[in-house]
Amino acid sequence: MITAPTIATVRAAVAEARRGGARVGFVPTMGYLHQGHLSLVEEARRRSDFVVMSIFVNPLQFGAGEDLDRYPRDLARDTALAAGHGVDLLFVPTVEEMYPTGEPVVRVVPGRLAARLDGAARPGHFEGVLTVVAKLLNIVQPDVAIFGQKDFQQAVLVRRMVADLELPVEIVVAPIVREPDGLALSSRNVYLSPAERVAARALSRALGAADAAARAGERDAARLLATMRDILDAEPAVRPQYVELVDPATLEPVTTAVPGTVAAIAAFVGSTRLIDNVVLP
Ligand code: PAF
Repeated sequence: MITAPTIATVRAAVAEARRGGARVGFVPTMGYLHQGHLSLVEEARRRSDFVVMSIFVNPLQFGAGEDLDRYPRDLARDTALAAGHGVDLLFVPTVEEMYPTGEPVVRVVPGRLAARLDGAARPGHFEGVLTVVAKLLNIVQPDVAIFGQKDFQQAVLVRRMVADLELPVEIVVAPIVREPDGLALSSRNVYLSPAERVAARALSRALGAADAAARAGERDAARLLATMRDILDAEPAVRPQYVELVDPATLEPVTTAVPGTVAAIAAFVGSTRLIDNVVLP
């Protein structure tokens, strides 16, 4: 595995791989890798011959008072995991390499899809995400890029950006990877105390209950939402920020759940903000 701190090294290594006829896959991450990230690498390996992963904690997507400074980092462990899972090129730029003139003046503005859900709770977040994803896609120029379903609004916005700006890359969204008790894997799970870790199971339990109710034929959004809220409200350490049933394309709330409707939750567990979702049957 090549570890590349500079854009020039990435471009040279990708060009070399392409000269050998390789199809290039890309997995952008903020590091502190877990099995969820590694499942994205596996997906990239299935779909390409040369896998690039980036690790960059992007300051642009963190709001004031968020966890930019304490976001977990362990580059030595991440490097070993990436190498062991078949990443060919690991791009680990500094903030100065990515933003040499300071915060970029020209950015990708996501519009109304970012006014909902996490975008409403975290103003400016998706502008920061899309700006860095656009830059990373321009640097790596992959054939295919893999994103996780856990950040489903991010995946929707990245797909829209790629379509609206005609970026020549295929976007693949890979399923959520969960702990055996249902908790969706996230680098931020490390913030949870043992008691909060137990309480955090309420998110996947609530989504599982909505999924089960939908499978049993319940279509009424108000009743499905009430099912989820009851489970979350029974857990005092969990403070929901939103509990929604939304159309997967417009992200607007639905009154009747149909196949493909997304049940989505954001909640604070202690001071840790977690998100999770399920696509209803
Ligand atoms: O999903 C993430 O880890 C980040 O939002 C991403 C896509 C790497 C952009 O910083």
